[in-house]
Amino acid sequence: MKKVGPIGVFDSGYGGLTVLSDIRERLPNYDFLYLGDNARAPYGTRSFDVVYEYTLEAVNELFSRGCSLVILACNTASAKALRTIQQNDLPKINPNNRVLGVIRPTTELIGQLTETGHIGVLATEGTVNSQSYVLELLKFSPETKVIQHACPMWVPLIENHRHDSVAGQLFIQEDVRILLEKDPEIDVIVLGCTHYPILKEYIESIVPPSVKVVAQGKMVAQKLEEYLSKHASLNLRCSKNGQVEFLTTEKATEFDKKASVFFHENVCSTHIKL
Ligand code: DGL
Repeated sequence: MKKVGPIGVFDSGYGGLTVLSDIRERLPNYDFLYLGDNARAPYGTRSFDVVYEYTLEAVNELFSRGCSLVILACNTASAKALRTIQQNDLPKINPNNRVLGVIRPTTELIGQLTETGHIGVLATEGTVNSQSYVLELLKFSPETKVIQHACPMWVPLIENHRHDSVAGQLFIQEDVRILLEKDPEIDVIVLGCTHYPILKEYIESIVPPSVKVVAQGKMVAQKLEEYLSKHASLNLRCSKNGQVEFLTTEKATEFDKKASVFFHENVCSTHIKL
């Protein structure tokens, strides 16, 4: 009999919970196992090698706990580790398992939302420097112009719950201003870091009304549903009892307290070491 288990969802910290929340809404019957590497977050300013090493450890942990499919609900990990894991590691670990990221599904759909064809991307330094958004968007919407800006302060502000302080808002205003100044024709801003949806309302309040601010969770959820319907044997290996469990590499009580801000449900996590 084939092994059945939850879909693994991984992020450096709390950000992936925003994606998990949208995935759960779309696929309520599936089981999920979330892993936040909070002890080693943020990943955004770390080198390619380190992000790859940490992400591979997390993926292996989720596989060892019964997941056949893992979603890297982290743009930085999707940009820096996904391809190597898919091409080099998966064939050795288990060629029937799958690891998917969040950049591809976002770039497949985001081009439909722009009228001017100028899309702004706010993301971590790692994601911006990888050029993943530029390269992927050009595949699906070759006419679009992609303008990126890295916001290295945002994840630490969010992880420490300082994003709605006066100082935090000044950082956010400044980064949004820099992006829009680079190209005033931008009419779509992609929140290209899974931590940023928590800032969506605030960002909407400081940009012109013609600019759409887009979080990627719903797009990732839509594409995951399509993926599962096309991959029947993988789908059969995903258990469906509507349950969700949480793992963190930091203190569980701290995770549970902060996680509810991102997940809107009570969270009871277990501490693990990677
Ligand atoms: N939430 C992650 C992302 O989407 C990572 C942020 C970080 O750890 O710097 O990029």
